[in-house]
Amino acid sequence: MRNLPFALTLGAALAAAMLLLSEGHPVRAQGADGDSPAPLGTGATVPYVIPEAGPFNPEDIEIKNNAAIADWFRSAHADAAAEAFRHWDEEEEGIRPVCAVCHSGAGFRAFHGLDGSPPGIPEGPIETGGVVDCETCHNPGLSRITEIRMPSGVMHPVDGAEAACMTCHQGRTAGVTVADAIGSWADDLPNPELGFINPHYATAAATWLGGYGGAGVHYDGKTYAGRFFHARPLNSCASCHQPHTLEVAEATCLTCHQTGDPDAIRVSRQSYDGSGDTAKGIRADIDANAARLLAMVGDYGREIAGTGIVYDGARYPYFFADANNDGTADSADGRPVAYKSWTPRMLRAAYNWKLVTADPGAHVHNPAYALQLLYDSIEDLAGPLGVDMGTLGLLR
Ligand code: HEC
Ligand code: HEC
Ligand code: HEC
Ligand code: HEC
Ligand code: HEC
Repeated sequence: MRNLPFALTLGAALAAAMLLLSEGHPVRAQGADGDSPAPLGTGATVPYVIPEAGPFNPEDIEIKNNAAIADWFRSAHADAAAEAFRHWDEEEEGIRPVCAVCHSGAGFRAFHGLDGSPPGIPEGPIETGGVVDCETCHNPGLSRITEIRMPSGVMHPVDGAEAACMTCHQGRTAGVTVADAIGSWADDLPNPELGFINPHYATAAATWLGGYGGAGVHYDGKTYAGRFFHARPLNSCASCHQPHTLEVAEATCLTCHQTGDPDAIRVSRQSYDGSGDTAKGIRADIDANAARLLAMVGDYGREIAGTGIVYDGARYPYFFADANNDGTADSADGRPVAYKSWTPRMLRAAYNWKLVTADPGAHVHNPAYALQLLYDSIEDLAGPLGVDMGTLGLLR
């Protein structure tokens, strides 16, 4: 172990040099003789760069990082003004430790012990103002992380930068969270102790791992599609998402699909939503079944749980009471009243609905799993509602 600090320092220096020098235009690293460029890969380890001695043009001192920085800077990861990074501004003490893991590069490093602290939830609040910075993904310590714990408890093996994506885009709850809250309470009996359980946002990694990752509520006697392996080369987040812009290039899809528009892509020859239309993208089937499920949650609230329910995506906790069934949330003291008549059956369905819709890329990350969760939830509500599944024409 005595060599470890050296190895780490060298690793960090190399990483820094590679970042700074890759495609290093006329930027010169200070080599052994002081002024000649040190080409990458010659073994010269240079932890910093200096521009060529002037006079020089601005474009001459442009370094490769500029492209990466410019790409990253216009991405959501760098958007310091976003709610995802400003939510804690009002809290004097900074970002709550449990939230900072995903809402700040510094919190992420603390969680994985990349900043020298013991791994785990940061010990104290993290200063606000941080975003998903370069060092979140370009951290030599990431290579030591071999698995990531999902909210279901499943340990998923990872390699390189994917450790980062999988940490932050896994959501905060899983099917087991809902099962634990419900306990052995009767399926159709409202329980005022139950509140809505929110899977959190941008849960791509959870969807991607499907049934194996345990993100959704699984129904007894059903089997679920596992991780969506898609097709060979697309085996990581970064094989579709440019890791700095976060965008998905349509050209990537055109190698195999007839269209590059993710919303229009369909491989499946069967119709899942009862429309019989197999010309539209698979996303349309998912959207249609999700809309049907949400409507059924509404019917169930009114008819079985005994209190109407409305969904408002702009306000936490999203589901509100609508006792007079006028389609708008009841309000008390000027605030909407959170829904408090959840039955286990209703909560399971609403959770699965929110999980599928919390991932705007569910149709690409794991269409089969999304369709299964929606179908099973619809089927579960259909029983007490007296809806005949056969007449809906849905497929699982
Ligand atoms: C496992 C990682 C993770 C943890 C832990 C986490 N979040 Fe998030 N959160 C995310 C991601 C990823 C997004 C980005 C969603 C998006 O695309 O806007 C997000 C988005 C948000 C948003 C913005 C939602 C919106 O409508 O734009 C809020 C607010 C938020 N989180 C609050 C919290 C709070 C409060 C905590 C701690 C109690 C927390 N988060 C913990 C990953 C996490
Ligand atoms: C969300 C994770 C993430 C963040 C944040 C990030 N990068 Fe990267 N970066 C990657 C990944 C993954 C690759 C490897 C891409 C590949 O293998 O195709 C990469 C590649 C690079 C490269 C190699 C050339 C290239 O563009 O592919 C450079 C240089 C680079 N990043 C610099 C930066 C800088 C500077 C920042 C901050 C401004 C940054 N990165 C932020 C994930 C990230
Ligand atoms: C430290 C946590 C963290 C890591 C690591 C991370 N993300 Fe994110 N990601 C976020 C947060 C937070 C947001 C929402 C930011 C916002 O609302 O501006 C987000 C947003 C996104 C978005 C949505 C972009 C949009 O336009 O709304 C994509 C796509 C994404 N991340 C992909 C990735 C990929 C791929 C990786 C790994 C290479 C990754 N993320 C690593 C926290 C993270
Ligand atoms: C097969 C290609 C593919 C893979 C693999 C993939 N994604 Fe996506 N992802 C997409 C597409 C396509 C979208 C939808 C983008 C759109 O319509 O703007 C998307 C959407 C997203 C979004 C929501 C963006 C938004 O607009 O809010 C996030 C976050 C995200 N992906 C993260 C990830 C993460 C993290 C991984 C790895 C666990 C991953 N993706 C793997 C193709 C992919
Ligand atoms: C290397 C070939 C290949 C590439 C590249 C590729 N796909 Fe696919 N895609 C497939 C195959 C094969 C399937 C069917 C997989 C299965 O069902 O197991 C599929 C399935 C899908 C589905 C589900 C269709 C359905 O009817 O269930 C969507 C959506 C999708 N791909 C989107 C994308 C997007 C978006 C991209 C570009 C980011 C992309 N694919 C790139 C081969 C590819």
